[in-house]
Amino acid sequence: MIQYHDGWAFLDTGDSLLDHVMEIMTDAFDPFYGEAWNRHQCNSIMGLPGVYTLVVTIEGKPAGFLLSRTVFDECELLLLAVKPEFRREGVATALFKKLIAKAKIEDTKYLHLEVREKNPALNLYYQIGFREVGRRINYYKSLNGDLYNAITLRFIVI
Ligand SMILES: CC(C)(COP(=O)(O)OP(=O)(O)OC[C@H]1O[C@@H](n2cnc3c(N)ncnc32)[C@H](O)[C@@H]1OP(=O)(O)O)[C@@H](O)C(=O)NCCC(=O)NCCS
Repeated sequence: MIQYHDGWAFLDTGDSLLDHVMEIMTDAFDPFYGEAWNRHQCNSIMGLPGVYTLVVTIEGKPAGFLLSRTVFDECELLLLAVKPEFRREGVATALFKKLIAKAKIEDTKYLHLEVREKNPALNLYYQIGFREVGRRINYYKSLNGDLYNAITLRFIVI
């Protein structure tokens, strides 16, 4: 389905979905942290039951996407990324609004995600209403071997 508003298009189906995801992924993630997924990983997971991919294009250009997986009444955010040139315009917030609306329709009770400590994305997650529920010490390893804690966050869907 495609929904439009103000030059933005939200796509959750279609042949171009994977291409858009990979274009955004390549630009958005810092290779230093090794957090980006490759095309094969994305393609494999996007076909699985409960997996939802949502892309925003702005004036036809892929700007941001999220990938989530719902199992029973819980949804996990697997990936979220916005291209640098489209940041701080509310793209990620708009993607979350759609995800939360979908969660309400489907009676999903919780959204979960895990993020590297000190990732600026934490500001976004707290602003949306996620709260910390756990930590995994030294869970992530960067290219130079530095270790980073993972923070687990939860959002209660009401
Ligand atoms: C994190 C990310 C998805 C945010 O996307 P975005 O579209 O710029 O986010 P929004 O415009 O919706 O931001 C909404 C609010 O979140 C907070 N926020 C977002 N990015 C922030 C940053 N880099 N630093 C501080 N606060 C930030 C701000 O409060 C912002 O509101 P404001 O712009 O009015 O101050 C984007 O920076 C990104 O792709 N980062 C690289 C990939 C990544 O780390 N993904 C998350 C882990 S999977």
